[in-house]
Amino acid sequence: MANFFNSSVGKKIIMSLSGLFLILFLLVHLSINFLTVVDPSGKLFNQASEFMETNPFIFVMQFVLAAGFLFHIFYGTWLTLQNRKTRPVPYAVSTQSNVSWSSQNMWITGAVILGFLVLHLYNYFYKLKFTDLIESGQMTEFELVTGLFHVNNWIYTLLYVSWFIILGLHLNHALQSAFQTIGLNNQQWLNRLKWLSSIYAIFITIGFSTISLYFFIRSILN
Ligand code: HEM
Repeated sequence: MANFFNSSVGKKIIMSLSGLFLILFLLVHLSINFLTVVDPSGKLFNQASEFMETNPFIFVMQFVLAAGFLFHIFYGTWLTLQNRKTRPVPYAVSTQSNVSWSSQNMWITGAVILGFLVLHLYNYFYKLKFTDLIESGQMTEFELVTGLFHVNNWIYTLLYVSWFIILGLHLNHALQSAFQTIGLNNQQWLNRLKWLSSIYAIFITIGFSTISLYFFIRSILN
């Protein structure tokens, strides 16, 4: 087992699997949050939030998710430092024709994403779980989530949309690299996966940005 963790294939497989897990999380997270746009009265989103909070499976999954995130971040940082010590090659598999800006900067985009994530967890996770804003009736989940993207707080919309663009760059490389690592790397598949990764990354960036920009524009019009 120790050999597996230390082997370069083992490292890439662990990094890819924890990354793939996060890729799935983002799809679920986007779907739930997109309910704010689908039903701007907030009813649907408040119901979904309540379900997420009271369902025991979701409760457990939050801890699994947090562990996955932390693992991916710390293991990725450790691998990057190790790689730099030995040779200046990133953890992801890259061939000459496949070296792109995002593939060479996975660690940098990853660190920026982490910085934004801390701010994001404070804005939502902390306020929902560790304050009584909702229970005291001061606001609903919907108002807390969408209130951040108000023209009076324009800096948040700017920060969040920048975060989603950087996340897209990270994901664009991450997904193809993960598939390559699990062995799907013949030329025909490589091209298809490059497309698939780009479509996924663009989908996530545009999907999350739509939520922020929708409520930002709505606050200007109201
Ligand atoms: C417009 C975009 C987004 C909105 C409105 C949003 C909203 C939320 C909300 C309301 C929560 C608290 C959920 C709860 O605990 O009941 C949350 C938690 C969280 N968000 Fe986001 N989020 C967005 C984008 C993102 C992105 C892009 C990421 C990852 C890169 C992310 C990662 C997380 C994580 C890790 C948690 C804590 C775990 C959880 O509670 O599910 N979020 N977000």
